[in-house]
Amino acid sequence: MLTSTELRQKYLDFFKSKNHAIIGSASVIPENDPTVLFTTAGMHPLVPYLLGQKHPSGNRLADVQKCIRTGDIDEVGDMSHFTFFEMLGNWSLGDYFKEDSIKWSFEFLTDKKWLGLDIAKLAVTVFEGDENAPRDEFSAGVWKKAGMPKNRIAYLPKKNNWWGPAGQTGPCGPDTEIFYWRGKTEFPPEDSNPKTDEDNWLEIWNNVFMEYNKTDKGTFEPLVQKNVDTGMGMERTIAVINGLTDTYQIDTMWPLIQKIEEISGREYIENAEITKAMRVIADHLRTATMIMGDDRGIAPSNVDQGYIVRRLIRRAVRYGKIIGLKENFCSIISQKVIEILGEVYPELIRNKEFILTEMAREESKFRNTIEQGIKEFEKLVDGFRQAFEKTGKLVNQISGKQAFKLYDTYGFPLEMTLEMAIEKGLTVDVNDFDIAFKKHQELSRVGAEQKFKGGLADNSEISTKYHTATHLLHTSLRKVLGDHVAQRGSNINAERMRFDFSHPEKMTDEQKKEVEDLVNGAIAKNYPVSFEEMTVEEAKKKGAIGLFEDKYGALVKVYTVGDDKDFFSKEICGGPHVENTGTLGKFKIVKEEAVSSGVRRIKAILE
Ligand code: ALA
Repeated sequence: MLTSTELRQKYLDFFKSKNHAIIGSASVIPENDPTVLFTTAGMHPLVPYLLGQKHPSGNRLADVQKCIRTGDIDEVGDMSHFTFFEMLGNWSLGDYFKEDSIKWSFEFLTDKKWLGLDIAKLAVTVFEGDENAPRDEFSAGVWKKAGMPKNRIAYLPKKNNWWGPAGQTGPCGPDTEIFYWRGKTEFPPEDSNPKTDEDNWLEIWNNVFMEYNKTDKGTFEPLVQKNVDTGMGMERTIAVINGLTDTYQIDTMWPLIQKIEEISGREYIENAEITKAMRVIADHLRTATMIMGDDRGIAPSNVDQGYIVRRLIRRAVRYGKIIGLKENFCSIISQKVIEILGEVYPELIRNKEFILTEMAREESKFRNTIEQGIKEFEKLVDGFRQAFEKTGKLVNQISGKQAFKLYDTYGFPLEMTLEMAIEKGLTVDVNDFDIAFKKHQELSRVGAEQKFKGGLADNSEISTKYHTATHLLHTSLRKVLGDHVAQRGSNINAERMRFDFSHPEKMTDEQKKEVEDLVNGAIAKNYPVSFEEMTVEEAKKKGAIGLFEDKYGALVKVYTVGDDKDFFSKEICGGPHVENTGTLGKFKIVKEEAVSSGVRRIKAILE
């Protein structure tokens, strides 16, 4: 049995032996990147260095990075999806390239001194080539030379074997992916590879060769600094190496499942529903712990990362109901997460008090809401009974709308309503619920996707326009409501923008109109938008607004709308923005509401 501790150590030791500097995991909350909520890959915190900035530790780096990808949150519950995972990675910043990268991957995986995996169970894919970049015969050649059999090398298109750029433009390139056999037979058949037999191979490592820069014209130009960016999924690697098809059985997850079994008195393998519930609880509380355990002090809230933490905890509590957990249990599981990962990520131990307190507080709060929901449910059932007594007409079905209200207002998942309905001899109009649910999803999907995607910055044209509109709105709000207005959060997708700001009361219709007019006025003036880099102190002196915390002494980008001296808006921000405000279209506020005490939210669109 290879343990997670052994795998991390072997990986870092191996790359140390190849002259790599070992760097610590960056925060799961990205720095200076307002467009994404979480660090989603090892390369994410290294983007400035991949773009040419000098890294203080040199040009060969290796690490274990905490990553969060909440895009697949609905898949969690199957055998292999996690919202938090650890990524092992090694980088060349303009140093070695394809040959060494592949040679070393092969050595680490197959040499007895390291992982000693059987070559017969490995396969790789390389880029098949297209109009932008040639077929990667070079990488295939290096694999063959290293000892990879020809029949286990498959060529795949860009959709599979290409990584990046992070936004619309930037460094990117072909990759070669390494797979391990997970089929039912001990060894793969002669002709099996990830192209012909996709389901039986699990990707464990991706080596990206950043050799192109995608320009805004959509062309691919060779990069001056060619980089290597690799990522090995720690959990799935441990699982396949140990012959486990269920990733929840690996050593960093299994103790959580055992704890859940212990406190619920139920068994993981009892039935599919219980298995799924236990997986969701373990995954979600682990991720919530990792977010709160970061030194940034993120607690459950209604905005940004805090909102994700809230949703994760609430989902865990709801799934807890399915396995009969009636008392607070989240902090018990969280404690276990800290025990398992605290040695690797000491920030968890530093922030233990905070994590456990916030976890318990959120759980209690949510339980109260659920209690109210149960009362609402009982009222509903009572109404049915009374109607029957009065009219003799028997209603024994909860409508989709009623079930949806329980879901939307009181956080009841449909399964819970169904279960409670059965206990009362009632049914639920599930189809009707689905319709209400889909309608709701359509309205909020774009927002939720953005929240849960946690992908790399979306720099599409429309998002960029909304981003600039955010600056116009921020300034206009301060002009209309006063200087106490400060940005508390923002979220953009292709359909709308959302902007949270500090303000104690509801805005009047006149104020909203005034703000709209100011923003549209700025659009009509077709102001230029430009940026300059300076220290936070200089930015303040120039009258810039924006988030100043933790940035003293650091260089920041300051975006100006209008003239440098006579500006409409000046704000600290990472960009990107449009070049002229005239391209934005017409700005319209569609909603203004409270988020929490002292914080308001505006939803607005560009028409
Ligand atoms: N950045 C690459 C990935 O995340 C290695 O797969």
